[in-house]
Amino acid sequence: MDVRAGKVLVTAVQIEARVREMAEEISRDYAGREPLLVGVLTGAFVFLADLARRLTIPVDIDFLTVASYGPGTRSSGEVRILRDLEGSVTARDLLLVEDIVDSGLTLKCLLDCIAARRPASLRTCVLLDKPSRRRTPVTLDYVGFQVPDSFVVGYGLDHAGRYRHLPDILALDGEEDAEG
Ligand code: PRP
Repeated sequence: MDVRAGKVLVTAVQIEARVREMAEEISRDYAGREPLLVGVLTGAFVFLADLARRLTIPVDIDFLTVASYGPGTRSSGEVRILRDLEGSVTARDLLLVEDIVDSGLTLKCLLDCIAARRPASLRTCVLLDKPSRRRTPVTLDYVGFQVPDSFVVGYGLDHAGRYRHLPDILALDGEEDAEG
């Protein structure tokens, strides 16, 4: 796919404003606590970096690297942890940070895995929600934008490893706009 053929779905200015709102909400909700932000690599690295810098509460930050595996499917529902968290999550207020939720299978699997480690609380923060593709229900506590069923790249999201560095979010197919 050629990114020049893509349509800007969410601009960098819109992202910045929404991330600021989300950070304010999270800072209010976690006032007096020091949550552990867990970014799911690779896609979440840009979002987590911007979100963390807008928070007004102290936080810890850790990362997981995961890969879906299965016979040729992008999200098989089975998640292999390629790189685990460095620290313990037991008794921590854990906020899982994802760039996008599509089928929900990755997030569901991660939530089950992390819940078994007995954090004090466990919430989800996702920049992009693609509800039309959902295959399993997952609770999204903080959502940036809903996006249509298009292939989206930029702001951390890739196609074959490319475009993660783009400041806007682009749809490489489809005609619809995102809803804030
Ligand atoms: C994306 C995203 C989620 C997952 C969502 O990761 O970061 O982890 O897909 O899809 P799902 O809801 O259908 O399970 P991807 O596999 O593209 O890896 P990346 O983060 O390294 O880009």
